Amino acid sequence: MRKLGLGKKGVEHQIEEEAHQLVETFARTKGQLFDPSLSISNSICNTICAVAFGHRFSLEDEKFLKLMGAIDALSKSVGCISHGLYEVFPWIMKHLPGPHQKVFAHAKVVQTFAKKETEKHKEHDAVHDPQDFIDFYLLHMEKRKNDPNSTYNEENLVQCIFELFVAGTETTSLTLRWALILMANHPDIQQKVHKEIEDSLGSSQSFSYQDRKRLPYTNAVIHEIQRFQYIVFSGVPRQCVKDVNMFGFRIPKGAIVMPNFRSVLFDPKQWEKPREFNPNHFLDKDGRFFEREAFLPFGAGARVCPGEQLAKIELFIIFTSLLRAFTFQIPEDMKELSAKPIVGATVIPRPVKIRAVPHCTN
Ligand code: HEM
Repeated sequence: MRKLGLGKKGVEHQIEEEAHQLVETFARTKGQLFDPSLSISNSICNTICAVAFGHRFSLEDEKFLKLMGAIDALSKSVGCISHGLYEVFPWIMKHLPGPHQKVFAHAKVVQTFAKKETEKHKEHDAVHDPQDFIDFYLLHMEKRKNDPNSTYNEENLVQCIFELFVAGTETTSLTLRWALILMANHPDIQQKVHKEIEDSLGSSQSFSYQDRKRLPYTNAVIHEIQRFQYIVFSGVPRQCVKDVNMFGFRIPKGAIVMPNFRSVLFDPKQWEKPREFNPNHFLDKDGRFFEREAFLPFGAGARVCPGEQLAKIELFIIFTSLLRAFTFQIPEDMKELSAKPIVGATVIPRPVKIRAVPHCTN
């Protein structure tokens, strides 16, 4: 994932293409109210396709639409009641009707898609010049083929791709949806972001992730969006390998630990005004961006999000492209868009209609 994350030749170029397509899609709404969620999910899903398979799909492609539908259904199923019951009582739930029965069919759609792409990659044999996740994985499988303990096999490859789609599509799409809601609700902040982008990037057509250094305010706003509207309900589980005493609590060997990163992202000892949307949390007194140790939206330690680098590039390039091209506005008859989330395994915004009004320079 790290090898794929950065560099003009790599996935960054594909993200720029997605951002460009998304700007075009929003432009077609001609400033009328619309729900941006599906277009955002399509773009993000396509970046995962670029990472995993090395290419994107047309939004009209039936195969892509089927894949998108399956990922959407899978994301919605995580954290719902039938999912919880299935995790605890799989032997009973297997025999009972309910929405969980459809989940396996959706999972199969994604797995079959991944299998077909793997077969195509094997035919083209790109081990000497790996370009995407499947290439790198097949290369690693080849290197470890004589190791009896290797876990690199085609079944695991398909499962890895499955997880990239399920963990990488919804998370990044939700963050971008919250980003647009927060910008529409805070026109003053939105205006400052746009001005900084205009002043720093001027008329130059393309920009890269490196340019975040020239856009400290924009970078701070993106970080604050991720902190303030944190979209993951809990980190993934760990198991304690030995007895531990921490702050007077005993955590026994074998205990399952679920990290709650929200407690850090809203810790009043770490943040000046944790319950306020305030980009200054990431700016020093001279307006320079600075990293905060307590900024942990991607988790920490051995199970930290493997898509962190990719997600950061996506958020920066797509957010900057959108704010450069449009002002996002709420409907005239509303004071602000609802920031009350629907909570499941992720924190989902309620469906909203928004206006993307083109800047006159575009
Ligand atoms: C804004 C976007 C994202 C956020 C906020 C996010 C957040 C997280 C968090 C909090 C975890 C659990 C980490 C822990 O418990 O320490 C996680 C795990 C994971 N993430 Fe992300 N993620 C994002 C995007 C992505 C992307 C783009 C991908 C892949 C392309 C991805 C793939 C994964 C996977 C596979 C895991 C499970 C790792 C494991 O099982 O150990 N995520 N993510």
